Amino acid sequence: MVEPAVWQEVDDYWNGFLLDDDPALDAALAANVAAGLPPIGVSAAQGKLLHLLARSIGASRILEVGTLGGYSTIWLARALRPDGQLISCEIDPHHAEVAAANVARAGLASAVDIRVGPAIDTLASLEGPFDLAFIDADKASNTEYFQHALRMSRPGGMIIVDNVVRGGAVVDAAVTDANVMGVRRLAAALAEEKRVEATVVQTVGAKDYDGFVLAVVR
Ligand code: SAH
Ligand code: DHB
Ligand code: MG
Repeated sequence: MVEPAVWQEVDDYWNGFLLDDDPALDAALAANVAAGLPPIGVSAAQGKLLHLLARSIGASRILEVGTLGGYSTIWLARALRPDGQLISCEIDPHHAEVAAANVARAGLASAVDIRVGPAIDTLASLEGPFDLAFIDADKASNTEYFQHALRMSRPGGMIIVDNVVRGGAVVDAAVTDANVMGVRRLAAALAEEKRVEATVVQTVGAKDYDGFVLAVVR
């Protein structure tokens, strides 16, 4: 069994080759710590994956659910085509404020629109089309967020849902917290959902053992 410390070490190793120095992202992480935000954003390697996925489909409209301090937001917004737009939903005004400053420091203020409030209300008020959606907020509502993302996706659009493995808790019947139940409810919904084709990518690394659903809309 390979230990989690090695996952971190391997992330560091590859990041040393594949990631440039990035003052705006470094500043965002530092600001998040200084503001007392929990360290639950995507890792650098995962952020770059989101960025590359968005770029590879030529995204010009991106939807994010769960902004925190805007770390994933910055990675995704940098992938936008010229004049593209990212809308990010965040319930916590403090998180949104920290994120807005981080996004502005990254030079992305005009491309990013952070909407403060319960994501379910914001989503209901939005219209598509979106090229890509990244769902990463309260996991209990994953299925509802997925349904809104699907409603607003363009054909061929991509929907990514973070944290669907949770250290393997998803298959541990003894775990019944709202987050894991939300992941299981999403899994059951996806099994019945004919409008998308989806897979799961399990991940290890700086964010331990987790994974995401990657769905493409027919
Ligand atoms: N995507 C971020 C991490 C998001 S953490 C990154 O990778 O950098 C999850 C965020 O979802 C938190 O900031 C939390 O406040 C927010 N959140 C929780 N419940 C929410 C809700 N009902 N509506 C909108 N945002 C919510
Ligand atoms: C949690 C949330 C996340 O979005 C994440 O990537 C890791 C952990 C959490 O709520 O514990
Ligand atoms: Mg997450």
